[in-house]
Amino acid sequence: MSLDQVLNDEERLARLDLDQLKQLVGLVEHDDSADPFPVSGWDALVWVVGNALQTAHFLQSAFGMELVAYSGPETGNRDHHAYVLRSGAARFVVQGAYDPDSPLADHHRRHGDGIADIALAVPDVDRCVAHARAQGATVLEEPHDLTDEHGTVRRAAIATYGDTRHGLVDRSRYSGPYVPGFVARTSSFVPRPGRPRRLFQAVDHVVGNVELGAMDAWVDFYNRVMGFTNMAEFVGADIATDYSALMSKVVANGNHRVKFPLNEPALGRKRSQIDEYLDFYRGPGAQHVALATNDILATVDAMRAEGVEFLATPDSYYEDPELRARIGEVRVPIEELQARGILVDRDEDGYLLQIFTRPTGDRPTVFFELIERHGSLGFGKGNFKALFEAIEREQARRGNF
Ligand SMILES: [Fe+2]
Repeated sequence: MSLDQVLNDEERLARLDLDQLKQLVGLVEHDDSADPFPVSGWDALVWVVGNALQTAHFLQSAFGMELVAYSGPETGNRDHHAYVLRSGAARFVVQGAYDPDSPLADHHRRHGDGIADIALAVPDVDRCVAHARAQGATVLEEPHDLTDEHGTVRRAAIATYGDTRHGLVDRSRYSGPYVPGFVARTSSFVPRPGRPRRLFQAVDHVVGNVELGAMDAWVDFYNRVMGFTNMAEFVGADIATDYSALMSKVVANGNHRVKFPLNEPALGRKRSQIDEYLDFYRGPGAQHVALATNDILATVDAMRAEGVEFLATPDSYYEDPELRARIGEVRVPIEELQARGILVDRDEDGYLLQIFTRPTGDRPTVFFELIERHGSLGFGKGNFKALFEAIEREQARRGNF
């Protein structure tokens, strides 16, 4: 298989190569011709927010994203504003209601800021929908064409956990800035001098929080409906603290571009962080988005300079002799990680560096992770306990613990 067949348009445009993607997101070569529901990668994370104008500004200033397209009243969309932003191969769409009667206003009233559509790039929308329907999935949008002078996008959508959907998008016959109805738009925003050109290159994984007892049913959904395979399994004491706990399993598409860890609360002495999410999001939803970076130190420094707040990691984490022995040599001195609160984990394949932001909206719901992989295809299992203790300290400060 040639490089051209392995890389998608977004990755080629972002000048990413196969070796970088293997490193960044654990991409593996996979022939999807026999898959019943072939998925080639991410299309977009589509958000509903309370103020799309300001969220688009935040994503440019704090996350280094680039504004590329827009839809709103000026383009004939009397319902909402939508801004499309890019960083490397990653695409975010942020939507905010313009019409007080917009369904997006109801969505936001219920859920707050969050991801409504985890849209996936698929080579054959109709085949995916036929298979999904045969497997009992709920089809929210039948396959349909969206056409303008730039060509045609074929799209459908199926339901997943809560009010979240998976848009299924084939843009192979389209050359416009996003989809019909959007116009190209750039921004006058100028990044701070010296900032890296890009703060992240791709989306690595999106985590879903589901109700107690529902995780295995959703793992089965992704196995059966979408042909995803199980990557890793974290259960019980691995991720329990003294007070609260969760269960987590991970499913991935054939080439591992798309990875979905699924969490459910587990019983602890106090309320799980997953329960807090479910209460404030009013049901299951996307908990965090992991952004792949090739220089997590520079990215954290740049984001912090713009006011992004990260979870604090206790000094005891770095001073623990067991941790030091377990992680061995990494590319920078541990003191550099400690100064920034970056976590490190190692498994049989290599290591990874990661850090988590605080929730980025008003509710204690969705947040971001930055991840720099060096061979490890894991998700930071060894950090779960240290991380959750840090999360619980914050949960207690909000009075929800
Ligand atoms: Fe994660």
